[in-house]
Amino acid sequence: MTKILAIETSCDDTCAAVLDGESVLASVISSQTDLHAKWGGVVPDIAKRAHQSRIKAVIATALVRSKITNNQIPISKQISKEERVEKIIEEGMKEIEIIGVTKGPGLAIALGVGVNKAKELALKYDKKLVAVNHIEGHLLSNWTKNSKGKPENEIELPALGLTVSGGHTKLVLIKAIGNYEVVGETLDDAGGEALDKAAKLMGLGYPGGPVIERLAQGGDVNFLKLPHPLEHQDTLDYSFSGLKTSFYYQIKEWSQEKVGKNLKNLSASFQEAVFETLIIKYKKAIKIYKPKSLVCSGGVMANLELRKKLRKMAKGFELPIYMPKMKYLNTDNAAMIGTVTYFKAKRGEFVENIAELDRDPRLKL
Ligand code: KG4
Ligand code: ZN
Repeated sequence: MTKILAIETSCDDTCAAVLDGESVLASVISSQTDLHAKWGGVVPDIAKRAHQSRIKAVIATALVRSKITNNQIPISKQISKEERVEKIIEEGMKEIEIIGVTKGPGLAIALGVGVNKAKELALKYDKKLVAVNHIEGHLLSNWTKNSKGKPENEIELPALGLTVSGGHTKLVLIKAIGNYEVVGETLDDAGGEALDKAAKLMGLGYPGGPVIERLAQGGDVNFLKLPHPLEHQDTLDYSFSGLKTSFYYQIKEWSQEKVGKNLKNLSASFQEAVFETLIIKYKKAIKIYKPKSLVCSGGVMANLELRKKLRKMAKGFELPIYMPKMKYLNTDNAAMIGTVTYFKAKRGEFVENIAELDRDPRLKL
C-alpha cells in the first residue's frame, strides 16, 4: 500500500508520522510544553526555533519506528548524529510515496518549518505532496487507524463533528470525507484557550486544561455562577471570552490564599460552564442537522468529564458517538494529518506546484 510521511508543526508540537495506507505505523510527537510553560502560553518564536532544531530527528525517529526500511543505520563513531539522521531520512524516503504536511491554520512561523521541510523532501526525493488543513486533521482523527487497522469504525455520514482545542472550537457537518460545512465556531477564544486562561488567573500551570481537569474532580460545579454565552441566541457560534471575564471579575478581589483554598471548586465550576456551553450548541446543531453520527476531537476531548457528558448527550439522541480512544490522537499529532493525506491522495488532490506551496495561517476548512 501507499506509504505516507506526514508532518505537523502548526503550534507547539513537532510531529511526524508514517502510514501504510490508512494504518499508522509510527507517530512521533516532540512536545515543547516545557519550553512555553514559564511564559504561560505558546511563544511563536520559541516554537519556530524548537521545530527547526527537532524536525529532522522527529522525522527520522518516525521512519525508524515504522520499520518500513530494514536499513537501520548503526550508531557508530564514524558518523555524527546529524549525519546518521540524514542517512535514515535518505533511506526511509526510498520507501515513502507521498508526503503530507499541515499548511494551516496555525502559527505562521511554526507552520513554515513543516511546510519548508515537506517541500524540501518532496523536491529532493521526487515525491507527491499533499497540503492538509489542521482542522480537517482533528475532524478525521476518528478515522485514524493503528497498524492493525483498528478501530474498524464504520462512521455513518453525515456526521456532526465537534472539535475543541487550544486554537479552535468548531461544529462541522461532515457530509462526506472532504466535504464539510462549518455550522458554528467560536467568535473569540477557543474552548481550550478559555481553560488555559482561567488556569492562568488561578496561578496554575500551562496548559491549563489537564490541570483544571484534575482539580475539578470532587469540586462543586455550582460554586460560582457563570454564564453560558450565547445560550439563548439562535446562532450555533460560541463565545468564551465573556465566560473568562465573568470568572475574572468574581475572583479578582480575592486574596491568593482564598483562591488557593478554593481551587477545586473554582476549577469545577469553570470547567462545567465551558462544557455545558459546548453541549448546549451541539444539541441545537444536532436538532437542526439531524446527523447519523457524532465525532468529537481536539485537545480538550482528552478530558474524561467532557467525554462522559458527550456520551450521555449522544445516548439521549440515540446516536453513535466517536472520540479518539488513544490520548495522543486528541491533541496535536501527525497521524491525523496522515489520515487526511491518505483520503486526499485517494482523490488525487496533490499540490501542483510544490516549489510554490506556502503556509496559510488562516486557512479555512
Ligand atoms: O489540539 P491541541 O493539542 O492543540 C491545538 O490545536 O490547540 O489542544 C491543546 C488544548 C489546550 O488548550 C489544553 O489545555 C487542552 O487542549 N487540553 C485539555 C486536556 N488536555 C489538553 N483540556 C481539558 N482537559 C484535558 N485533559
Ligand atoms: Zn490542534
